[in-house]
Amino acid sequence: MATETSKAVLITGCSSGIGEATARRLARAGWTVYASARRLESIESLAGDGCKLLRLDVTDEQSMRAAVEVIVRDHGAVGVLVNNAGYSQGGAIEQVPMEAVRRQFETNVFGAIALTQLALPAMRAQRWGRIVNVGSMGGRLTFPGGGLYHATKYSLEAISDALRFEVKGFGVDVTLVEPGLITTEFAKSAVASVVEAQSASMGANRAESADGSNPYERFNVKLAAMTTGVYESPIRHLGGAPDVVAKAIERAISRRRSPSRMLLTPSARLTVLQRKLLPDRLWDAMMRTQLPQPR
Ligand SMILES: NC(=O)c1ccc[n+]([C@@H]2O[C@H](COP(=O)([O-])OP(=O)(O)OC[C@H]3O[C@@H](n4cnc5c(N)ncnc54)[C@H](OP(=O)(O)O)[C@@H]3O)[C@@H](O)[C@H]2O)c1
Repeated sequence: MATETSKAVLITGCSSGIGEATARRLARAGWTVYASARRLESIESLAGDGCKLLRLDVTDEQSMRAAVEVIVRDHGAVGVLVNNAGYSQGGAIEQVPMEAVRRQFETNVFGAIALTQLALPAMRAQRWGRIVNVGSMGGRLTFPGGGLYHATKYSLEAISDALRFEVKGFGVDVTLVEPGLITTEFAKSAVASVVEAQSASMGANRAESADGSNPYERFNVKLAAMTTGVYESPIRHLGGAPDVVAKAIERAISRRRSPSRMLLTPSARLTVLQRKLLPDRLWDAMMRTQLPQPR
């Protein structure tokens, strides 16, 4: 077992987007990076940048335990943990099957908690560590049709706040990054989840109107179009590429004292400000200009 302080980095969800960009950036900057994904073949190209590859599914505790064990064996500890894996389960709350609700929390919240628990003993023992949770501006405001996703990101806000206090004295800093619009595979999977939730719900004969029609149909159609549209519209210029988040993560873990929160991209700063200034009624009225109210 190594005696030096380990700064080995473990990142979840590296097959695309923010995780992939972070793994690549940190490895190129000289960090020892363990890039992970549930399908190893999806991260093969990262080996070319110097990343070590691990199979890790954040809903599979055994795979998380095995990944942490490899790093502890080789370096003494996970020095930096980046809890990035996540997706958005969209759809009206009434229509999302409970199995999908549970999967959303298992992936975005419980996975991050479990990995944190697995990584902390060795981090504490070496009295140095960094935990970065990839939250979202969506942990500070809620869009209709995204309630479940937002609930997971609000959870990460609470968990990061508590954890920051609890582990500070052991030399472990916690940073919550809160990106706005970032162009990744995120929108595609969010749209697919709306369609799946709707068809599962209708198939199960739930959430139907008396005449058997779907009371959320117009809402869901618009929601899916809006989710895709926002990443293609001029508004996307207020967002950024995944490397914007990767760069922020690199900054956070390189500092002597990591920042507790990083609200990233103008889109996040503007939308969070807007939400803060608008009372609920006005916020809802603004949402009605974007989405038909189901009735
Ligand atoms: N893009 C945005 O606008 C945005 C904004 C704010 C926050 N975020 C957050 O950023 C994080 C990364 O998302 P992204 O934008 O980079 O989207 P992305 O390109 O879709 O990447 C999501 C990653 O999570 C992985 N993942 C999903 N379920 C997993 C599981 N059970 N175990 C391990 N990995 C799993 C995916 O792997 P597979 O290929 O195996 O599915 C993929 O590598 C998420 O937490 C997201 O909520 C994104």
